[in-house]
Amino acid sequence: MYRTNTCGELRLADKGKKVTLAGWVQKSRKLGGMTFVDLRDRYGITQLVIDGAADAKLVETAESLGREFVIQVTGEVLERQSKNPKIPTGEIEIKVETINILNKSVTPPFTIEENSDGGEDLRAKYRYLDLRRPPLQRALALRHRLAQEIRTYLDGQGFMEIETPYLIKSTPEGARDFVVPSRMNPGQFYALPQSPQTFKQLLMVAGYDRYFQIVRCFRDEDLRADRQPEFTQIDCEMSFVEQEDVLNTFEGMMRQMFKNALGVDIPNPLPRMSWYDAMDNYGSDKPDVRFGMKIHEITALVQNSGFSVFDSAEYVGAIAVEGAAEYTRKQLDELTEWVKRPQVGAKGLVYIKLNSDGTIKSSIDKFYTPEQLAKVAEALEAKTGDLILVLCGPKRKTQTQLGVLRIEMGNRLGLRDPHVFAPLWIVDFPLLEWSEEDSRFYAMHHPFTAPKPEHEKWFYSDKKEDLERVCANAYDFVLNGTELGGGSIRIHEAAMQERMFEVLGISKEDAEYKFGFIINAFKFGAPPHGGLAFGFDRVCALFGGQETIRDYIAFPKNNQGRDVMIDSPSKIDQVQMDELCLASTVKE
Ligand code: AMO
Repeated sequence: MYRTNTCGELRLADKGKKVTLAGWVQKSRKLGGMTFVDLRDRYGITQLVIDGAADAKLVETAESLGREFVIQVTGEVLERQSKNPKIPTGEIEIKVETINILNKSVTPPFTIEENSDGGEDLRAKYRYLDLRRPPLQRALALRHRLAQEIRTYLDGQGFMEIETPYLIKSTPEGARDFVVPSRMNPGQFYALPQSPQTFKQLLMVAGYDRYFQIVRCFRDEDLRADRQPEFTQIDCEMSFVEQEDVLNTFEGMMRQMFKNALGVDIPNPLPRMSWYDAMDNYGSDKPDVRFGMKIHEITALVQNSGFSVFDSAEYVGAIAVEGAAEYTRKQLDELTEWVKRPQVGAKGLVYIKLNSDGTIKSSIDKFYTPEQLAKVAEALEAKTGDLILVLCGPKRKTQTQLGVLRIEMGNRLGLRDPHVFAPLWIVDFPLLEWSEEDSRFYAMHHPFTAPKPEHEKWFYSDKKEDLERVCANAYDFVLNGTELGGGSIRIHEAAMQERMFEVLGISKEDAEYKFGFIINAFKFGAPPHGGLAFGFDRVCALFGGQETIRDYIAFPKNNQGRDVMIDSPSKIDQVQMDELCLASTVKE
């Protein structure tokens, strides 16, 4: 037996026991003739002590231990003289009798402790060493716990876990596909799934009325803190359901996950907000409702006073930032530059300060009387000491910019505590989104999403404004400003699916080539069905109080989509290229 106990297990109650431990040497130090070693495994750290007066061979071995050596020790559990209240094993130590070096280690490139001295790139290169650190171990343990909760809950609700293929057909609609050349079918390619969407719908046609899968998805898109090229979904689908059934089922799952993994009770039922209200009040389809600072439209209040910037704008909107009237000229200039960055895209920023002495000072004093500005303040329910920030332009675009500004101000004021959780459903999304650039409609969710039954009359209309009015039977689960999941009630009739492809400007031939299999399946008795998918990495990160999903994935990619540990992607040799009938156009 390699060990009788783990390094996180022994307590004062074990005093006097003879034990065998195995683990990694985190630290070794000599003090007053004694050698102290911190022995680590994923359960914790136990202090070992080797008396200088002990057997010479033992002392010599103890003194030869380097960082990250793997050792096995036997000894007796003693009560510590100087206790360490910071760690659970801090009241005991092991008086070592034998040391067996199981493996040596070269000096690690960074410290493997709670806080490492290694930079991000170095730690990514040696990910297996970084994974030895407690923060990453906690992250993966949380991920494991949540996965178990999900399986237990869904199994209890009668869901079956069914796998779907990874080598599928390329049908780029949302993001770009990752493609895989087929050796046996020269010149042809598989694509890796962006999600199992069509397969789960085919499982419904096949009668597996409650399906789930914790499944890898692949999307070739620009990466961000909450986006990886391969990520994991909790993918679910149900037959014979309406939106209400789906929301109740998955609210239940989330409630259980919050309760069992974090001990947090979330509201029952969860709040719901329409997409239109989310955009109007928060400038985002994934509003962070942990704090107020809502957006208010002030167009009517500020137009026709001679300020041409506002007069010519479709929409003028504002937020009131609590207690920020003390912002200096320099800070306001800096904020103006901030909203002009391409990531926000505003043309400029107007401010109104409600000074603590009762006066109002604004960047538009020339055009408005203090009374007019006071009316604006009143509309925003702003108080003395607040700072009002105003943007204008096309309605949705400006609301989105105000939404980004609101989040930034929320961050600056410390209103976004990661350990406060405010989940909600966003519902009643528009079905379609018009792209000026491509002069066509895109599906806001995906092309399999059904219109609300009461809006079907507009769905079959040829008028653009009618189509723009159609709401989808779609919903998103939003937590703290992040979209954690989304789904919809699906189209289950071939004719309606064909109409959808028509509305999206996908020709009959193209629809047949890309989606013929699903249109055909719908002709064989497809049941009404709907479902959703949660981004599992995002769920884990937010539950862990982080925005970056990378730490919750054992072997993630960096922002360039590279795995710097295995050095991938990489070239393949000419033989492989020839076998796959591939030629590279990249100049060496
Ligand atoms: P959607 O495209 O909204 O829906 O994806 C579902 C959830 O997956 C997460 N997600 C990601 N997480 C990390 N990295 C990424 N690159 C990434 N992209 C998406 C998000 C998102 O909410 N088939 C539909 C679901 C359905 O209709 O049932 C789908 O894939 O948290």
